[in-house]
Amino acid sequence: MKIVVVGGTGLIGSKLVKKLRELGHEVVAAAPTTGVNSMTGEGLADALKGASVVVDVTNSPSWEDAAVLKFFETSTRNLLSYGAAAGVGHYVALSVVGTERLLESGFFRAKLAQENLIKASSIPYSIVRATQFFEFVKSIADLSTEGNKVRLPPALIQPMAADDVAGALVRIATSSPVNAAVEIGGPEKFRLDELVRRDLAAFHDPREVISDPHARYYGIVVTERALVPDDGARLGEARFEDWLIHATKQASKAGGQLT
Ligand SMILES: NC(=O)c1ccc[n+]([C@@H]2O[C@H](COP(=O)([O-])OP(=O)(O)OC[C@H]3O[C@@H](n4cnc5c(N)ncnc54)[C@H](OP(=O)(O)O)[C@@H]3O)[C@@H](O)[C@H]2O)c1
Repeated sequence: MKIVVVGGTGLIGSKLVKKLRELGHEVVAAAPTTGVNSMTGEGLADALKGASVVVDVTNSPSWEDAAVLKFFETSTRNLLSYGAAAGVGHYVALSVVGTERLLESGFFRAKLAQENLIKASSIPYSIVRATQFFEFVKSIADLSTEGNKVRLPPALIQPMAADDVAGALVRIATSSPVNAAVEIGGPEKFRLDELVRRDLAAFHDPREVISDPHARYYGIVVTERALVPDDGARLGEARFEDWLIHATKQASKAGGQLT
């Protein structure tokens, strides 16, 4: 089967491309650096020729409100119209659990716009809504840092390994379209402030995490369960503590230091 992974050079995309190739599929890793641009349309017709499945794991280079909306609207419109012209039979896109509960953020308004364009198109689809990646926990801290302090609310979060996200995308991309959104998440729930505290401590990051029910996540107010999936979500296997041990070892091998 020919599968085009748009955003195939990114965190999730590169893992997905590798896993699909290991299964023997013909895979195109599409991204600006490989000559395929979903914003301008450059290289799309060639990349999609003969493809059965498109997986969209792109992300916007800018998360500023107007820029991110423009990215997901333009990129998705292009992928859907070039995909329909190429006779693609399954359009898979990666989105985020709780998107409709997080619309105070321009990023999530853009993700919802992306989902709605896919639902309105003629191509059979599967939208995969994932929880936050373990790899993203440090960015959560960075977005809430002032000086040496990180203020976060004790909202629930059920993060998952990028590797498990890619594994779930492999299963969904190689199955029939569900024409709906499915949720995937990690095996354990945490409090957001505690999760970030553990992550920073493991990487010897000196920032202090302060639990503050009025603090914002990603610049927005989140309710206790806004970030967690429903009961029917498919859960990944990797546990955060095991991932931390591995990730800190890799970081010290790569850079000789952990922060
Ligand atoms: N972070 C989280 O915790 C989380 C949770 C749930 C869902 N998600 C979703 O997961 C998706 C993928 O995230 P990620 O962390 O894997 O992203 P990432 O590492 O930032 O990778 C983004 C990919 O998009 C590509 N790209 C950017 N502009 C493009 C364009 N104009 N045309 C084609 N490709 C383009 C990039 O290519 P270059 O390398 O060439 O720039 C790269 O391959 C996002 O949509 C995000 O919303 C994230």
